Amino acid sequence: MQKDPLAQLIQEDQFVGWVFQIDYEKAVVLTNDVWKSQANGIPRNCFLLATLIDPGEPAVEVILLRVMGSALLPMDDKLVRAKIEDFKNRAVNTIGQEMDTLIKSEIRFSGLECRILGTFYNQNGTLRLGADIESYLNSAELRVYCPKGAALETIIHYISPERAAATAQEAQRMGFKNTLPRFPIGTVRFTSTDRRHRGDAASQVVFNLNAVDFLARRTAVFGMTRTGKSNTIKQLVSVVMRTSSQSGLKIGQIIYDLNGEYANANQQDKGSIAEVYPNDTIRYRIIPVAGFQPILNNFYTQIQEGHATLRALIESLRLPRATDLEAFLSIVFDEPRKEDFDDEDDWHKNHARYRRKVAAYHAVLARAGFELPKGFNIQFEASAIVCKLVNPSVDPNEGLTSAQAVTWFDLARQIQEQLYSSGNDPWFDPDTKALVNMLLQKNDQGAYIPGYRLLQPFKDYHSPNRTTDVSSEIYQHLENGKIVILDLSVGDTAQRDRLSKRIAQHIFQSSMRIFSLGKHPPHIVIYVEEAHNLIGRNEPLTEIWPRIAKEGGKARIATVYATQEVSSIHPNILSNTENMFVSHLNNENEFRELAKFYDFRDFESSIMHTQDVGFNRVKTFSNPFVIPVQIDKFNPELEKQRSG
Ligand SMILES: Nc1ncnc2c1ncn2[C@@H]1O[C@H](COP(=O)(O)OP(=O)(O)OP(=O)(O)O)[C@@H](O)[C@H]1O
Ligand SMILES: [Mg+2]
Repeated sequence: MQKDPLAQLIQEDQFVGWVFQIDYEKAVVLTNDVWKSQANGIPRNCFLLATLIDPGEPAVEVILLRVMGSALLPMDDKLVRAKIEDFKNRAVNTIGQEMDTLIKSEIRFSGLECRILGTFYNQNGTLRLGADIESYLNSAELRVYCPKGAALETIIHYISPERAAATAQEAQRMGFKNTLPRFPIGTVRFTSTDRRHRGDAASQVVFNLNAVDFLARRTAVFGMTRTGKSNTIKQLVSVVMRTSSQSGLKIGQIIYDLNGEYANANQQDKGSIAEVYPNDTIRYRIIPVAGFQPILNNFYTQIQEGHATLRALIESLRLPRATDLEAFLSIVFDEPRKEDFDDEDDWHKNHARYRRKVAAYHAVLARAGFELPKGFNIQFEASAIVCKLVNPSVDPNEGLTSAQAVTWFDLARQIQEQLYSSGNDPWFDPDTKALVNMLLQKNDQGAYIPGYRLLQPFKDYHSPNRTTDVSSEIYQHLENGKIVILDLSVGDTAQRDRLSKRIAQHIFQSSMRIFSLGKHPPHIVIYVEEAHNLIGRNEPLTEIWPRIAKEGGKARIATVYATQEVSSIHPNILSNTENMFVSHLNNENEFRELAKFYDFRDFESSIMHTQDVGFNRVKTFSNPFVIPVQIDKFNPELEKQRSG
């Protein structure tokens, strides 16, 4: 005989009453103080199950309800009057005097107003959940149960057979024997006061986030300050790391850490993600420090990037715009590509000019104190005639030291009128001339200019040891399932924004490229704090952050974003967000924004009035309704033990 998937939902000892009124939207339940007590109380917002069957009979369907509040019973008025009379007739503080037993047994009954969330039914041995009820019988005698333990677990982890099949398929594709992992992140909690319904830890029901709901999807974390948003993210990062390494599923995670709270242990929380997973975490910072990789690039090899950084930094100083500085800032370093030229000589001439410009730039950097990479020399093409005219004692084709380069360019500048390159162009094109002016601190008329000195304060933004682009390096870490933390808590803000954007762009483009080749990009999760800054409501959707949030799913990029205000997020992204975690919101406006989504409206009182840290209402992609969950506290010590 096929097992009955509905049977385990009904727990006889959890009987709490009868449905005495029902329609398509709501059900009113008659309960009794005794049944309530036996079931350990009925907290507001908890689930109830209503079923037609007699105990022991096989169930056909079970209606899922959510307790919304109390309901009046027809005789309540009369009973309240009797109760008041009884109290009035007593002397003050009488002990041992009992209420009239008849009244007492009557008065125990009360009504519960419930919203219908759906119907569980048995379809060929598989549990299904419809998001409504199909029909109702006014005369039906529906028994009501308050699910706990296994029954509650089934309710909160319901996943449709279709989605389960898709998950299994994805798991198989990725080489998993079983299905994709689930991430345990908290326990079910209905109300702030949780003395009874979550009394002992053992009976608490663990809430798991399905990998299939989380990966390649958008997750929002909303709530007032200090209500545990960052903790939720830490918990997610560590649970994803732990679960994925146990199951062998590689998931790269990158955290845009604006306050340095993931990279560094703080006073309150004693322990950070980086400390828990020392071998799987790579930390980056703008300013180099021990234990961190520099987000920086090598200015000598990443010419465009380095020059763009210098431009941004100098612009942030708002210096008076002297002509020479302007000329330096507007230089474009585009390396001529062979395929763009019909004539090989033409390309060669252009390329030689480009190399000269780069050499002059290298010399400026070196003179400004930007440390040269090991074994690096300044090299460019110069014809035999040019070499002879300028300085026959050294050969630029072989490479010059930085001091030799300064001398060489100085001498060349003095005879620039005589110098022509192979193509009969003047040897100094305007860009190179501007660079040589910077190098020698002289303008075209020979008057003093600050020149290379302007760049001196920024030499810490350069990293001489880096051989690959920081973005590609980060992408590789993500492909290997590592946690990358970009500590953006220090350093110039304009610089920070630019670099973080560039890295995001690289991740998106790399994954999209793999996707467009018909291959499977790696699973990556991007976590962003203070998300309103990046995917704010006025942000054009063509910008990189909104694009990742909107289109990243295709390329297997999941986005997790945290912010205090629901209303600050781009509406288009908000409405495409599959998972939402909401702790406390303190104002009507924000709640109204949230109430536009799913059934968060049911939790108005809870969200607006309870301020418990980590107490979230969670909507996941698979679940058709919101589930209230207490998120576990990220516990570095415990995680360290778990990860061995
Ligand atoms: N689920 C939880 N259980 C117990 N303590 C928690 C929980 N979540 C967070 N805390 C604690 O509450 C404090 C605030 O948490 P957290 O920094 O995560 O809040 P936040 O919402 O990110 O705040 P902010 O808006 O300032 O970034 C921290 O000290 C944290 O350890
Ligand atoms: Mg925070």
